[in-house]
Amino acid sequence: MFSDDTMLFPMERLTTERLILRRMDVSDAQDIFNYGKDREVARHVLWDAYQYVGEARAYVRAMQRKYRLGEPASWCIELKGTGRVIGTIGYMWYQRDHNSTEIGYSLARDMWNKGIMTEALKRVIQYTFEDLQIHRIEAQHEVDNPASGRVMQKCGMEHEGTLRGRLMNKGKYVDVDLYAILMEDYRRRREMLRPSQHETR
Ligand SMILES: CC(C)(COP(=O)(O)OP(=O)(O)OC[C@H]1O[C@@H](n2cnc3c(N)ncnc32)[C@H](O)[C@@H]1OP(=O)(O)O)[C@@H](O)C(=O)NCCC(=O)NCCS
Repeated sequence: MFSDDTMLFPMERLTTERLILRRMDVSDAQDIFNYGKDREVARHVLWDAYQYVGEARAYVRAMQRKYRLGEPASWCIELKGTGRVIGTIGYMWYQRDHNSTEIGYSLARDMWNKGIMTEALKRVIQYTFEDLQIHRIEAQHEVDNPASGRVMQKCGMEHEGTLRGRLMNKGKYVDVDLYAILMEDYRRRREMLRPSQHETR
């Protein structure tokens, strides 16, 4: 629970059955580069596939600066028992006046469709409502990235609409689907959203 405005996002270590969400370190840059250079991973996110490991290092350093300042930031996702960083999840922004935030995420391609991001997002949603006491969490995905929308649905987020030409991604305007979950939705469906058991498909 936070009490000091400057430490709104303490980015504490979180765990789930298969995952550790933790602050990233420069030593994680190689793992992040290994999946971040994959164009399929980068296709529907607003960063370009990495060409050099130095780009992943710069990303980690930018996150570390946010950790120091208590700003909204991302955790890296470590697969328990391997030490390997397989993705990231975190806050894109926070609006203090409205007590709302947006979550974004990405995952190494060899880990897709195993319920990993659903497990991570459920834990982050739980933390955001129960520990940070934020009122509204948004997430958005490009309309031609339905797997991401499915993750949002499985985490209890509701589709609020399609925003036409909302983003410019890799030189093209793209339509995005907006999802959100409110504190009251979470309280109502807390049992269903409990992240303790990994998703079985
Ligand atoms: C989107 C992403 C995070 C999903 O993570 P994940 O761990 O594979 O997600 P999960 O396994 O928890 O769930 C994926 C769901 O999407 C479904 N899915 C996968 N491909 C799909 C497709 N082409 N169309 C519809 N559903 C699809 C899966 O079947 C699964 O749903 P189910 O459990 O009901 O069967 C991952 O693919 C990724 O990192 N992609 C690249 C980066 C990215 O797009 N980030 C999100 C930007 S908004």
